[in-house]
Amino acid sequence: MRCWLPDEDATCRLGAELAASCPGGSGLLLTLRGELGAGKSTLARALLRGLGASGTIRSPTYTLVEPYSTTEGPVLHMDLYRLAGADELENLGYRDWREQHRLLIVEWPERAGGSLGPIDLDLELTYSGSGREARLEARSDPGKAWLRALRTA
Ligand SMILES: Nc1ncnc2c1ncn2[C@@H]1O[C@H](COP(=O)(O)OP(=O)(O)OP(=O)(O)O)[C@@H](O)[C@H]1O
Ligand SMILES: [Mg+2]
Repeated sequence: MRCWLPDEDATCRLGAELAASCPGGSGLLLTLRGELGAGKSTLARALLRGLGASGTIRSPTYTLVEPYSTTEGPVLHMDLYRLAGADELENLGYRDWREQHRLLIVEWPERAGGSLGPIDLDLELTYSGSGREARLEARSDPGKAWLRALRTA
């Protein structure tokens, strides 16, 4: 599924719609790909707000990971741009994170070199004129349910 995001508000709306259509269960993995400044954090923040994240939404640029308690359960926002390698992810304790969280939102998943495990939904943002294009790809049954709910929203 592709959609055109003419401005930042459109990116935020997509984030809010992803929150509203997020399926139940636990351990969902949403990967956000795209160049520097493509809008990954903008979308992640809107998604976290939509899920009812309490408190300030910080950027995980240096901490790599920020935990949130939301009305939908615990959610992690990760930014792996500065990840040194898959070992570092393991040392941070990634192994248990999926089962412990409702959803993991991961910027720069490429940095993990495939050690994140199976992806449910992948979202790629690309520069297009003055806006962005989003391409969403479901990679699991929960991911497909998520996209279906998003389309009918
Ligand atoms: N659809 C859009 N059209 C134009 N500008 C947008 C759009 N969505 C977001 N932006 C702008 O692009 C910038 C995106 O910054 P953001 O930090 O979200 O990018 P990022 O992909 O997380 O970058 P990084 O890889 O550095 O983490 C912001 O200035 C935001 O206002
Ligand atoms: Mg970012």
